[in-house]
Amino acid sequence: MPSEFNTIIEPFRIKSVEPIRFTTRAHRETALEEAGYNLFGLRAQDVLIDLLTDSGTGAMSAAQWSGMMRGDESYAGSPSFFRFEAAVKELTGFRHVIPTHQGRAAERILFSEACRPGDVVPNNTHFDTTRANVEHEQATALDVVIREGREPATMHPFKGNVDVEALESAIEAAARVPLVMVTVTNNSGGGQPVSMENLHAVRAVCDRHGIPMFLDACRFAENAWFIKQREAGYEKKAAVEIAREMFAFADGATFSAKKDGLSNIGGFLAMNDDELAARCRANLILTEGFPTYGGLAGYDLEAIAIGLKEVLDEDYLRYRVRSVEYLWEKVTAAGIPCVSPPGGHAVYLDAKALLSHISSSAFPAQSLCVELYLSGGVRGVEIGSVMFGRTLGDGTEEPAAMELVRLAIPRRVYTQSHIDYVAEVVAAAGARASSLRGYRIVEQGPWLRHFTARFEPK
Ligand code: F0G
Repeated sequence: MPSEFNTIIEPFRIKSVEPIRFTTRAHRETALEEAGYNLFGLRAQDVLIDLLTDSGTGAMSAAQWSGMMRGDESYAGSPSFFRFEAAVKELTGFRHVIPTHQGRAAERILFSEACRPGDVVPNNTHFDTTRANVEHEQATALDVVIREGREPATMHPFKGNVDVEALESAIEAAARVPLVMVTVTNNSGGGQPVSMENLHAVRAVCDRHGIPMFLDACRFAENAWFIKQREAGYEKKAAVEIAREMFAFADGATFSAKKDGLSNIGGFLAMNDDELAARCRANLILTEGFPTYGGLAGYDLEAIAIGLKEVLDEDYLRYRVRSVEYLWEKVTAAGIPCVSPPGGHAVYLDAKALLSHISSSAFPAQSLCVELYLSGGVRGVEIGSVMFGRTLGDGTEEPAAMELVRLAIPRRVYTQSHIDYVAEVVAAAGARASSLRGYRIVEQGPWLRHFTARFEPK
């Protein structure tokens, strides 16, 4: 980076482009009505700027695409697997590396082998699939993030930290805790980082109780970058060293390569426990494939091996975190309440604060998502009572802790003018806040209802 200038630039040139389709408001109204007002139900070509997720939506590098040509498609023991395994071991240090088709496959395998009915799994904040996979084993997914992590406006450098006292009491109160998870960065809590000091403290609690500690490492590189920026003693360490130190605290990790693997598909489950790894490999064969490809093609394994190195490039990380902060600055300058400080992969709008006239049971964040889409073709995702609340037996709604709209930024995809446009759309929605109305759910599935629920405006 040219150090005498302040503008942080994209550390790449654009070599291949994908056109986006412009649509009218009338077109979007029809599309959304057909989707039951659920943005997951839209066709992507009806979206102008797609900030639904940063998962699998990134642009791969020329090095990754050329690496894919080297991919070897052997069923068992391909050279691609060994390159992938070496890259993961070099980064994480774990003895066993099991490829999976994405993060939730790693979660399903881990929790179905480690959990028994009645167990409690603590985590700073479980993401939706993590929670669902724990609950599917009839275990309890318990969130133990620090208080600041549940208060959108409260500034704190490490809002993803685990409340260590709450963790300790949860362990003492539980019949059995098969493992403790820490999500880096804490996605459901605003993409907020966890400090090295906190990882150390969680490790100490786990050691005292003889419980293994796992990282949900989807966004480990963004977390490492925040540690470098914010934690004393890490300013001069390389992101890769910080990442290795984070993994060194843990006994294992689940990983979705669709985030900080800079790949469009893939993931892994890694650990040190020989006996658990053997059971996980046997479990994997049931649904994912053979343990040297885990439901992936050889070329996917190559893309991940390269992505894991590229993601720790500090020019990339500086640009990545700055580009998210840039959107946050524009949106907060327009007076829109947000989770602050900004997270590593997304800006989270605080719909509870913005739409205080809409109660949680009428899903304010859903209402804001709909408005951003209808007015500007921008697709975000509700992270509030649709995703984490539930309908009780008497038909009333149990709300989530926060009502957020996440605008997730795909990696290396959108330019600054795309982001300027998004900021304008959000500011305009903010100006119309008092005219927005709530929604009711008219149809929902037995779990992960946000993916398929249908809504009606109230
Ligand atoms: N853990 C976290 C913290 C996640 O954010 C995700 C996915 C997963 C696990 C599951 O990984 O999608 O590869 O199966 N998050 C995406 C998102 C979908 O939009 O935040 P996966």
